[in-house]
Formats: sequence, structure tokens, C-alpha cells
Amino acid sequence: MSKPQVVPRRMHFDFSDLPKHWFGGNAVATHAANGLHILFPEGERFFIRSVRRFLGQIDDPELKTRVRGFFAQEALHGQAHDDVIELLEAQGYSVRRFLKVYKWLAFEVAEPLAPASMSLSVTVALEHLTACMAESAFVDGRLDHAYPAMRELFLWHSAEEIEHKSVAFDVFNAVDGRYWLRILGMLVGLSGLFVFSTVASRRLLRQDRLTRGELRRQRRTRRRGGLMTPTVRAGIRDYFRRGFHPDQLDNYHRVATWAAEREVA
Ligand SMILES: [Fe+2]
Ligand SMILES: [Fe+2]
Repeated sequence: MSKPQVVPRRMHFDFSDLPKHWFGGNAVATHAANGLHILFPEGERFFIRSVRRFLGQIDDPELKTRVRGFFAQEALHGQAHDDVIELLEAQGYSVRRFLKVYKWLAFEVAEPLAPASMSLSVTVALEHLTACMAESAFVDGRLDHAYPAMRELFLWHSAEEIEHKSVAFDVFNAVDGRYWLRILGMLVGLSGLFVFSTVASRRLLRQDRLTRGELRRQRRTRRRGGLMTPTVRAGIRDYFRRGFHPDQLDNYHRVATWAAEREVA
């Protein structure tokens, strides 16, 4: 399968009248997604750092070009989600304390302790997870009830995650490729994502001060929320196969369709 060019696209989203519960009016679904917004900027800067350490060991000029496109895309994603963090603050949510602890634990304590190959392996795993979530965003209609600008932000991010889904993987294969290390990266990355996103979502939800009854009702009526859709679960299972490669899932056409519908490059 031929790999697409990795092209950063600067987008604009109008959040001027973003409601607090922008995911179908549901607090639980909204904060599950807000929990990701909060994690993305630091997470994506970590992905860039982890891959950059190995740039000097890559000989293939085509892969080098895709890596540069990957850096540019992730940098723009980080900025876009940073903007959403500011929006959350403008809505009255307190997020800075959580961000400080998250940054300290994940990137000031854990990251320096791990060898560079481990950071790369965690990046490869989390890149696969974001690509699975991206696929789910397109095929499962998960964003159908989201506020339009937020839906557009997630679909833009999803399209680019699909476009660069094999970049970190190809770097890992070129410089290391050990199966057990790739799997360990998934176990660490998945646990980290689960713990931090759950804590972030719960902290935001608590700030809404919903009554117990209202919270129960919101949980019941939450539509297609949660990260672990059947598409994502199948993607994670796939990752454990020894011969796995992200390009085995034929979905690059989603990027072209998304771009054509919005008349972007
Ligand atoms: Fe991204
Ligand atoms: Fe990515």
C-alpha cells in the first residue's frame, strides 16, 4: 500500500458560543472528551520529542519527510487542544492543577527514567490508539451529536492521525523493532491514558456539581460515549499480532474524503 504524504493543515474553528455540555447536552460524554483535550497538548509534544531522538538514525529520505510532516501535524494539534483548554477555563473549569500534576508525573518523573526506546515504543502504541479512535470517529458516528465546531476539530485531528498512523511505527521498525518492547509500550501507554483521562474527566464532572440523580440520568442517557468502542478494542487486539502493521487497515481514503468534503488540501 502506498503511504500518503503527511501534510499539516492550519484550520480555524469557531467556538464563540460553545455550550458547557457540547456533546449532545450530556455532561458525562462531554467531560470524557474534554479529558482527552486536556491530555493531548503535552502528549503530542512528548510524541514529537520521542521520535526526534531517533531522527539521526533514519536513512530513508521518504520516511524522514513523513516524520517532518508528523512533527508539523502534532504541533498544530497540540495548539488547537491548548485553545480548548483555555475555553474550558473561560467556562469556569479549573484544569491547571491537574495539568501540573499530569505534566510532572508523566513527563518530568516517568519520561526521564525511561530509555529513549521505551518512550518511542509508548509513542508508537499511543499513535496506534489515536488512529483507532480516529477510525472510530469516522465509522461509528460517535461525533454525530457533538457541537459542530468541536466535531470538526475532532474530525480534522482524526483525519491527520490516520494520515500519519504508520510514521512512528516505521521509525520504531527502522531503529529497533523488538516485539516485546512494542507490546510493553502498549501496556504502559494504555494504562497511562486510562488513568489520566479518567481522573481528568472525573475532576471536570465533579465541578458541574450535579445531584446524584442527575448524574445517574446523564450516565444513562449518554450516547455512544467512551473511548473503548468495538472499533478501538479490535484495533488494540490487532496490535498484539507479531506481524501487525498500521497500514494493514485500509483507511487512508478517509483522509481524501474528509479533505474533499471540506475543500482543503
Ligand atoms: Fe495528533
Ligand atoms: Fe498522532
